[in-house]
Amino acid sequence: MSGSVHVVILAAGLGTRMRSKKAKVLHRAGGLTLVEHVVRVALEVAPPGQVTVVTGHQADIVEQVLAPYGVRFARQTEQRGTGHAVMCCRDAVAGAGPEDLLVILYGDSPLLSAATVRRLVERQQASQDAGIVITTTLDDPTGYGRVLRDSAGHIQAIVEQKACTPEQAAVREINSGIYAFRNALVWRHIGEIGTNNPAGEYYLTDIVEILRAQGHAFSILHLDDAAEVMGINTRVELALVDRIFRERKATELMLAGVTIVKPETVTIDTGVEVGQDTVIEPFAQLLGTTVIGSDCRIGACSIVDSSAIADGVDIAPFTMVGTSTVESNAHIGPYARLRMDNHVEAGAHIGNFVELKKTRLGAGSKSMHLAYLGDSVIGRKVNVGAGTITCNYDGRKKHQTRIGDGAFVGSNSTLVAPVELGEGSYVGAGSVITHQVPPEALAVGRGRQVVKERWAARRKAKEPAGSTK
Ligand code: UD1
Ligand code: CA
Repeated sequence: MSGSVHVVILAAGLGTRMRSKKAKVLHRAGGLTLVEHVVRVALEVAPPGQVTVVTGHQADIVEQVLAPYGVRFARQTEQRGTGHAVMCCRDAVAGAGPEDLLVILYGDSPLLSAATVRRLVERQQASQDAGIVITTTLDDPTGYGRVLRDSAGHIQAIVEQKACTPEQAAVREINSGIYAFRNALVWRHIGEIGTNNPAGEYYLTDIVEILRAQGHAFSILHLDDAAEVMGINTRVELALVDRIFRERKATELMLAGVTIVKPETVTIDTGVEVGQDTVIEPFAQLLGTTVIGSDCRIGACSIVDSSAIADGVDIAPFTMVGTSTVESNAHIGPYARLRMDNHVEAGAHIGNFVELKKTRLGAGSKSMHLAYLGDSVIGRKVNVGAGTITCNYDGRKKHQTRIGDGAFVGSNSTLVAPVELGEGSYVGAGSVITHQVPPEALAVGRGRQVVKERWAARRKAKEPAGSTK
């Protein structure tokens, strides 16, 4: 069989055992929703137009989350079982070529690797059998469908937990729910699945017996690594799977030359990239689409979300960076916050308790202590004094602050936007700046200091004797 591959991902169920208002496949592990992990694996063996996701509970949200992947959807309005879910894909898949394969994946089994699915597909492509199922052996098979083999070791049937006799319940080989079928055979026989079982559902697992009764052989791909096919049913399993994803990611990065101190404490999402010889300290979180260069430090307890960090950047502990770009050799933190949409140029320095929002900080510029820089464009080699605040909001609208190259902003200055400081200009400490400052000028906007000589002595003389004030 050498036809092309179609994938159906079952993701319509609510997942009652999650005890959640949210559909199970929308819960997150390893930084992605469960169903996204499965879609990514599917796209390794089939083009997006041949991947169909069955949606039901919160279908609109699931379809929105998956829209960027370009996959197709089939709605299952009433969840009447895994067999019924596949039936809902008839329009999307049944017309495929007679030689094509149909792979079934579950939206709640996100640990499955692309390598395993590829193996499944290759085995089925090389065989004349009706299909192949992935199984594994568990110490505690409770809740899973049991795989029944005949004396020759061939699969006979899959029996669900609820329908098991005590003898069948003792079988420890379980159905992963992941199969590859000869597509045409599925559509010829799927209508024969009934609901004669304790749950009254259409069980996809019944197709094995149905095809066997038609004289077709069915084979097994047994996995030694049970974790790969672990289905998530509860939040306890969700946490376990999240831990496995984090371990996988940390191991992959360490093997590629990243130092991770206390790797069991860090959270690095599946999509994150990190360059060689970067050091990631304990409890750091690298989230979303973050890309980090080589020779960086990500300080303890720092959080970097969907940001691009170039080579040699030093992020000191307890720093937050959100959707920002940081160029090479910049230094940020400790205790700094780059809120969103910032661009920090090469070699710039951001110190403790400095917040940036929608701000560009030029190469070599410094803001070392206690500042808020919002909606600002700051040139190169600027010195922003401690306590500088850009007043970017007038109660209705946001306004911009522009600071030219080489400017010096004295400590505790208040820059009332819109405002511009020219190149090489100076602002005296404690100023409130409301008007443009020309290049090279000094602006001082504060009450002039008044000194009253011998004032204390005069005050004392006025006080009545014996006053305690
Ligand atoms: C299923 C298998 C069981 C296997 C186990 C592995 C059947 C009958 N049983 O049981 O043999 O050991 O998976 O994890 O197939 N879904 C739909 N529509 C439905 C029902 C389910 O889309 O009407 C989706 C769910 O969203 C989920 C997946 O199918 O992603 C599996 O459903 P679930 O109810 O968890 O099946 P299990 O009882 O775990
Ligand atoms: Ca399940």
